Amino acid sequence: MAINKVKGTYDVLPTESYLWHKLEDKIKEVLHLYNYKEIRTPIMEYSEVFHRQSELSDMVTKETYDFDDRGDRKLTLRPEGTAGVIRSYVENKLYSSQELEKVYYIGPNFRYERPQKGRYRQFYQFGVEAIGAVDPALDAEMIILAFDFIKRLGLKGVRVRINSLGDDDSRRNYTEALKNHFLPHEATLCEDCKQRLTKNPLRILDCKIDQKHEAVINAPTPQDYLNEESRSYFKSVLEHLNVAKISYEIAPKLVRGLDYYSHTVFEIEADIEGFGAQNVLGGGGRYQKLVSELGGPDLGGIGFACGMERLLLALEAENVDFAKEIELDAYVIVFNNDLKTVATKILYELRGANLTVDANYTQKAFKGQLKQALRMNAKYLIIIGEEEFKKGVVGIKNTKTEVQEEVLFAKIKKYLVEKLEKK
Ligand code: HAM
Repeated sequence: MAINKVKGTYDVLPTESYLWHKLEDKIKEVLHLYNYKEIRTPIMEYSEVFHRQSELSDMVTKETYDFDDRGDRKLTLRPEGTAGVIRSYVENKLYSSQELEKVYYIGPNFRYERPQKGRYRQFYQFGVEAIGAVDPALDAEMIILAFDFIKRLGLKGVRVRINSLGDDDSRRNYTEALKNHFLPHEATLCEDCKQRLTKNPLRILDCKIDQKHEAVINAPTPQDYLNEESRSYFKSVLEHLNVAKISYEIAPKLVRGLDYYSHTVFEIEADIEGFGAQNVLGGGGRYQKLVSELGGPDLGGIGFACGMERLLLALEAENVDFAKEIELDAYVIVFNNDLKTVATKILYELRGANLTVDANYTQKAFKGQLKQALRMNAKYLIIIGEEEFKKGVVGIKNTKTEVQEEVLFAKIKKYLVEKLEKK
């Protein structure tokens, strides 16, 4: 019986991996411009890193992959990057430098969701966190960075949506107001939202089932409950965005899917025709309690993460000429098997000169080798014939112009380096 991949997972095949490489290179390139350094944390953590008392989001309560290891420890495959990064920040006392810690990460996450296009049970995120400062300029930098990154990828149909949940006080007042607003409608809300009403009323706002419920449409927004301080914090974030000429929209009902946020929250949405339901490419916001909840000092941070599959889907949907597959500079063909050691020597030498070269290991006949070389779009063929070998030369053929020249053995490297301008 053939064994299939786990539901909600996918393989990146050899013909696609170049797209991932390019995306990862781009992430590193842009993040370095903003002075972020990579952090790598484990894909599994002790469950309490994610299952904190304050985190009641569906994602963390219902969708995590939890298991006991053989030593009966409760572990969770990370459903997102932030909590693990903060666990590491605290455990390694990265706060002791008193400096802002700017980090990014790239890696797989696991959520037991209903799979569909753009939504998987194992998916990749790249995420960014700036931990240890509360400053509207930093919130703005995070949004500018997200915007800049998307622009540099070449994506055009993208919307940046921003909101503020305000500080603890504002958020508490707002939560209370939401509860009072929804209570009279309890009977008509979906089963999940009935639960959310007491535990976590903010979540009702992004319920997929109750989206069109009149009470959801008419619900008060966080903005209505911002206190003076939170209002001026948000105003300042927007001022920074305005000077950077970032185009954004204020989304009064945006609350995000995790519970650790306060103050600024934002999402990047694909606005591409026919893109599908999973159009949120990335999102994030400020968190003020996460560091202390995970045993660290009272420090705030802000970050965001993007789904990398969704970025690639958006690039495909917009037909962005984004990355090129590896191109073969040359392909070595031998007339008979005894010449294979000669081929090995040439290949090693050319790779030493940083040329991308290959030879054939499956076809014995010259014709078969040639076919394979052309199928792989090699720019040059290096043809080693018996007679030529005796004379100390090989034939080098440009596959585009079809011009073939005899080249001395000792000159092969020089010839190709010059032709390919790889000096
Ligand atoms: P999130 O909104 O849960 O935030 O996820 C960020 C992005 O990951 C989403 O916008 C989406 O593109 C992608 N994503 C989420 N779930 C899936 C899935 N099942 N399949 C494919 N893509 C998915 C966070 O994870 C926060 N940690 C972001 C953050 C960083 N906040 C502060 N710092």
